[in-house]
Amino acid sequence: MPTSLPALAFGGDYNPEQWPPEAHAEDRTLMREAGVDLVTLGVFSWAWLQPGPDRWDFGWLDEQMDALHAADIKVDLATATASPPAWLAQRHPEMLPVTQDGRTLWPGGRQAFCPSSPVYREHALALCTALAERYHDHPALALWHVSNELGCHNARCYCDVSAAAFRTWLRQRYDDDVARLNDAWGTAFWSQRYDDFEQVLPPRVAPTHANPTQQLDFLRFSSDQLLDNFVVERDVLHRISPGVPVTTNFMVMRQTMEMDYLRWGRELDVVSNDHYLIAAEAGGHRELAFSADLTRGTADGRPWLLMEHSTSAVNWQPRNRAKLPGEMIRNSLAHVARGADAVLFFQWRASRAGAEKFHSGLLPHAGTDTRQWREVVELSRLLDAVEEVAGSAPRNQAAILFDYEAWWGCELDSHPSIDVRYRDRAEDLHRALTAQGVGVDVVHPSTDLTSYDLVVVPTLYLVSDETVAALTAAAEAGATVVVTYFSGIVDESDHIRLGGYPGAFRELLGVRTTEFLPLLAGESVQVEGLGEGAVSADTWAEDLELDGAEALATYVDGPAAGLPAVTRRAVGDGRAWYVATRLDAAGTDRLVERLVADAGLEQLPGASDLVEVTRRVGDDASWLFVINHGDEQAEVPVHGVDLVTGREVAGDLRVPGGGVAVVREADPGRSD
Ligand code: GAL
Repeated sequence: MPTSLPALAFGGDYNPEQWPPEAHAEDRTLMREAGVDLVTLGVFSWAWLQPGPDRWDFGWLDEQMDALHAADIKVDLATATASPPAWLAQRHPEMLPVTQDGRTLWPGGRQAFCPSSPVYREHALALCTALAERYHDHPALALWHVSNELGCHNARCYCDVSAAAFRTWLRQRYDDDVARLNDAWGTAFWSQRYDDFEQVLPPRVAPTHANPTQQLDFLRFSSDQLLDNFVVERDVLHRISPGVPVTTNFMVMRQTMEMDYLRWGRELDVVSNDHYLIAAEAGGHRELAFSADLTRGTADGRPWLLMEHSTSAVNWQPRNRAKLPGEMIRNSLAHVARGADAVLFFQWRASRAGAEKFHSGLLPHAGTDTRQWREVVELSRLLDAVEEVAGSAPRNQAAILFDYEAWWGCELDSHPSIDVRYRDRAEDLHRALTAQGVGVDVVHPSTDLTSYDLVVVPTLYLVSDETVAALTAAAEAGATVVVTYFSGIVDESDHIRLGGYPGAFRELLGVRTTEFLPLLAGESVQVEGLGEGAVSADTWAEDLELDGAEALATYVDGPAAGLPAVTRRAVGDGRAWYVATRLDAAGTDRLVERLVADAGLEQLPGASDLVEVTRRVGDDASWLFVINHGDEQAEVPVHGVDLVTGREVAGDLRVPGGGVAVVREADPGRSD
């Protein structure tokens, strides 16, 4: 983690422009009381910093920077380019984003810009340059924050400017050869052939299904355009403000698929992520754990910053549940347990006006005599107590491969079943591994897999030959590889890999499927062979033949009755498993028990579905995090010192229901 940042930073977005000056001194006093040491400033301040085309006003920001510095609070300074001011859209309506069905998205909310707009970029870079020149050597400056959640509301723009940019991008991808595009897009189908790049459009609303490869390329293009917005600002900041790290906040959570964050991560000096729980979902800690591990994957295994989450309710869900007592602390520690070196929130003071006035903040509307405030202060003390974990990171024996391109491809229309959701198997296998005390990295398929004993390949619909070769090599070298249904189906152009499914993985897995047998909504089948009695499965079945593999479990009933549902093949020193159906949670648990044994994985003590146990490993110490999401006391046989209570534990750590512990282990855990 860059040294300009506090060790385990604590704070959040600070929007002083929303408040009269009298509030600002109180803000700083209360920030100090709460132990805030990092704030993100200026995220939506463009209209304040540049009230007109040739008018600039940095006075208020100078005051804020100086006053925060005097209060010993560091600043993550935004480039303020996320929400263009009204005057810019008025002068240049051509920079507004347009939806797939041709509607313009007007100013009045935020992020009303087309990511390909040269006008937007020119003005954004001017602002970014002005800020960098003014503040590059300010002592409060710890981090640059480009834009905000790039792509949050404008990830895909279908306007004419975007169409032209898409064509330029396509010319590059296909070496200026329209025949190559025709081939990749399979335009022999439905008379879609192009004679010239100039005929090509974004996949705007069409009479029926748009060309799938056109859609896939448009997703690639859109992600690249947004990344480019980051890169051009970052380059300005690196030039004018060398040595100060640059970030932008990701949205690695289930709802967000548009940005290829596993590629984006390589461009950031430090990765940061925003995470919001979905209130309607029971057991949201599981999705949080997956997203946090995926965030670490975007950071190439290094520590990262939790840039935003909420102290309690948000405003943008249909029913905005308040967090239960202790929940915010558990959420925060769960991110730290998985590599976050900062716990920051949206936002410091809950707004009194605007669309987010019912969003919780560190300082609630009701003030400091509140449970929320007391928990904020408690969290801050807790982070101080565990500060020594900063810089360490989990080191795991198991990996889940995750690929945004496979996600995009998997969820295109006109597929065998709309119930095949890309993150579904990845999250369920992650849940089961976590509950059995197995730490998991969530990584891009191009990651070096040689250190892993278990590699999970969920729904990798689109896969390259290189990935298949790397997985085969991993299995040959002794790893257990497990592939789930609807993997290996197409190449990078979304063309079917012929000869039987699962296409690219047929040889590795030793199976050959001649037909998919997807199930109807509400239909389930029984599968036996995974321990005693049958388990349920739904969504998917296959007409599968063994071709070198053995059947470990078979369908009892349904369209594939009597056929293999789970198979395994010995490969070199390792094994390759195939799971041809969507097992229910109990079935996945049983499968994972067998995989853990097969791969000889270490299981952290005391873990269960409600008790999260993870380990961070440093140079010469390791820390076991225990987060008890249940009501019952958890018992964990660990030796060391619990940094939360300061007590020594000798194999008898007890964590009350809802509580947390962070134990510096007497005998440091695995660090290879
Ligand atoms: C994020 C955003 C913040 C705030 C927050 C509310 O998407 O970056 O500015 O809007 O959500 O949950």
